[in-house]
Amino acid sequence: MPKVRGRSLRVLFDAEAIAARNQELAKEIAAAGYHNLLVVSILKGSFVFAADLIRALHGVGLAPEVEFISLSSYKKATVSSGKVTLLRDVESDVVDRDVLIIDDILESGRTLAYAKKLLIKRGARRVGVAVLLNKPGKLAQPFAADHVGFVAPDLFVVGYGMDAAHAFRELPYVAVVEDKPAKKARAAVRGSRVRSRAARWRRDADESRRGSRGHAGYRSRREP
Ligand code: IMP
Ligand code: MG
Repeated sequence: MPKVRGRSLRVLFDAEAIAARNQELAKEIAAAGYHNLLVVSILKGSFVFAADLIRALHGVGLAPEVEFISLSSYKKATVSSGKVTLLRDVESDVVDRDVLIIDDILESGRTLAYAKKLLIKRGARRVGVAVLLNKPGKLAQPFAADHVGFVAPDLFVVGYGMDAAHAFRELPYVAVVEDKPAKKARAAVRGSRVRSRAARWRRDADESRRGSRGHAGYRSRREP
């Protein structure tokens, strides 16, 4: 088991398997008949996969233009539905273009559904989707990728561009972090959790004080 940052990693897809699958995906994409192809890589997670896949596309005779879009999907603590935000847009005009979106993982489908809808709305002729990993059973809405590298188990994975708090992107393989952080690191995490809980309580108390003042003010203005 490789160890990185003091953590044991269980490799799910090694570099050789990924390289071989990229060659197959490239052939599949070439056979799909995209014309005048514009590849759009979703940052940040797909940058390693996209870098390898576009070179595999060159190997099968395709000459795509390559662009980047930066999207972030996040969950608010109290709201279960994720919201996708456009952080950096593509520069190209996509009207009448065949576009292939590349992403690392298809999970809830929110990120890819957002990207695909955006490009179609802007007039793309055809929008295909290639993902390295598909985690089935997690979709928040119906969505299918056209080209899938591997079906992944429902585990949080890192490596090959994918991160945990910006770490592990450099790994040449896809892995699961197996062991718990070392004692010292765990204590630090616990400490920071306690600190952030205390900060949240202080914030809530402030807000509720402000809220009750505001409410009283509102009543006093409206009531004789
Ligand atoms: P979706 O919008 O829920 O499909 O989110 C997909 C995005 O979440 C991916 O592009 C990744 O950036 C991130 N993500 C989902 N699962 C994992 C994981 O296991 N490891 C790292 N990133 C993940
Ligand atoms: Mg992503």
